[in-house]
Amino acid sequence: MSVLGVIGGTGVDQLEGLQLVACHQPETPYGAPSRGIQEGSLAGGKVFFLQRHGSPLAIPPHRINYRANLWALKSLGVEDVIAINAVGGISPAMAPGGLVIPDQLIDYTWGREHTVDGGTDGKLMHIDFTEPYDRRLRLSLIAEAEAAGIPHEANAVYGATQGPRLETAAEIRRMARDGCDVVGMTGMPEASLARELGLAYASVCMVVNPAAGLGDQPISLEMMREILEREAGVVRQLLRLVLARQS
Ligand code: HPA
Repeated sequence: MSVLGVIGGTGVDQLEGLQLVACHQPETPYGAPSRGIQEGSLAGGKVFFLQRHGSPLAIPPHRINYRANLWALKSLGVEDVIAINAVGGISPAMAPGGLVIPDQLIDYTWGREHTVDGGTDGKLMHIDFTEPYDRRLRLSLIAEAEAAGIPHEANAVYGATQGPRLETAAEIRRMARDGCDVVGMTGMPEASLARELGLAYASVCMVVNPAAGLGDQPISLEMMREILEREAGVVRQLLRLVLARQS
C-alpha cells in the first residue's frame, strides 16, 4: 500500500480523529514546510498531514513554500498526496456545497517558485503533464465517494489564480470561456511539483462560493466559512474511507 500524505487547505486545519504518532519538522533544500508534518493513524491507516497555510500563521497562497512542502512529504516516505482545496464555482454544475475531484487544470499563477529543476545537474526535466492529476488516485477517490453516496463532480477543470485577491467578473468570464469549472489559488504549482518529485497527486475541491460575478451577493470569508465547515466534514469522511481501504 502506498504511503498517504494529505495537504489541508482553508477550513481543514487538523485531521479530526487523527491518532498522533509524531510531528516531523524536516528541513529541505528550499527551507521549512508550512508547518510541522503530523504523522498518525486515521481509520486504521497511516497518514502524514500538512496544513499548507501553516495554521495559525495563515500563509497566503502566493507565499506558500510549495517546494518545501512537497519535498518534505517525499522525504518522509509519502508516495500518494491528496490535496484539499477550497474553490469558487464557475460552471453551473459546481454549486456551493459541492465536492469536485478535478481531472484537468489551467495555470494562471505567476512568479511562484514552480520547479525543483535548478538546471544544475546536466539534465532537462520536462515532465509529462498531459494529465495533471494521478489517474489511479483520482479513481480511488471517486470510487469511495460513489460507494458512500457522497455527491461529487468527477470531471472538472481547475483554474489556478494568483491571489490573494479574488477575481474580477471579467476574469471569471474569461476563465469560463477557457473551460475552467472551478477557481482556486493553491492548486499550482503544487500539482506539477508533485509530478516532478514522482508523487501521485489528486485534489478534492470544496466549492465554497459562486465565483466573482456569478452570485447575488459580495463574496465574503464568512460566506465561505459556513459552507467550509459543512464540507470539511464530508471531506474527512472521504479521507477516512480511503484510509480504511489502505489499512
Ligand atoms: N476564487 C479564488 N479562490 C477561491 C475562491 C474564488 O472564488 N473561493 C475559494 N477560493
